[in-house]
Amino acid sequence: MRLGVIGVGHLATSLLKGLLRAGHAPEGIRLSPRGHGPELAAEHGFALAADNPALVADCDMVLLAVRPADAVDAVRGLPWRADHILVSACAGVTIARLAEGAGPAQIVRIMPITASELGASPTTVFPMRPELRPLLGALGTPIALESEDQFEAATVSAAIYGWAQALIRTGAEWGARNGLDPAVARQLMARTFVASGRMQGEQDAPMDEILASLCTPGGITEAGLRSLERAGMPEAWDEACDLVLARLRGTG
Ligand SMILES: NC(=O)c1ccc[n+]([C@@H]2O[C@H](COP(=O)([O-])OP(=O)(O)OC[C@H]3O[C@@H](n4cnc5c(N)ncnc54)[C@H](OP(=O)(O)O)[C@@H]3O)[C@@H](O)[C@H]2O)c1
Repeated sequence: MRLGVIGVGHLATSLLKGLLRAGHAPEGIRLSPRGHGPELAAEHGFALAADNPALVADCDMVLLAVRPADAVDAVRGLPWRADHILVSACAGVTIARLAEGAGPAQIVRIMPITASELGASPTTVFPMRPELRPLLGALGTPIALESEDQFEAATVSAAIYGWAQALIRTGAEWGARNGLDPAVARQLMARTFVASGRMQGEQDAPMDEILASLCTPGGITEAGLRSLERAGMPEAWDEACDLVLARLRGTG
């Protein structure tokens, strides 16, 4: 599969770093000449297309990572063929809207996160296709959804990725205010979140059971959880997720 990228901005740069990290050859990947395309081509040896029509004509799979408002215009008028796979990472832009511009191409939506550059992105995808495995496997763990509706709901986790980092920062700043070296506090918080995710993600026991095993009655974890509940958890979290989903569906 010859891969091309239209929209070489912040997200695409992370994805390209992830592909390099996984051993993909840069000269086999064509970048559009806007955004960071020229500098990434010069620095890493990616091929640079003359323009978007030339890129589409030369590739079998095209990753679209322009801003959502630019997505349909960016694909319109390009020489799409029925054997093209258009892989859109544009949040909230439906397959039907992309099809208005990309006509006969087969359209897939993915939602990677910038941890792609570490090979650690849980990348949601709909519909899954076998041709995507080398791309998504290089970025982390593919998570196939069964409908576009499910995909939209799963896309909320791309925002949660940012909220988790805000919580890590809050915890690190609290640690520093309470006498920890700031670098130690940052590592401690970040690694604690990684550990929590791994315990819930890599064990088969029910989630409640894993959590209950941490909450000794009268202990510090339980006391802190009750304090968070009095302050609005988990309702505040659910409300933020509802808000993001409404934005993605264009209803909020
Ligand atoms: N940022 C993230 O962490 C993240 C995570 C998941 C999904 N996404 C999705 O990824 C997409 C891109 O986000 P971003 O943060 O990477 O935005 P960004 O940094 O603004 O990058 C968008 C790039 O698209 C280029 N572009 C716009 N129209 C183009 C066209 N017709 N042909 C070629 N290039 C064009 C822009 O070039 P110019 O600078 O020349 O305008 C810019 O370099 C969004 O749809 C977003 O929903 C982002």
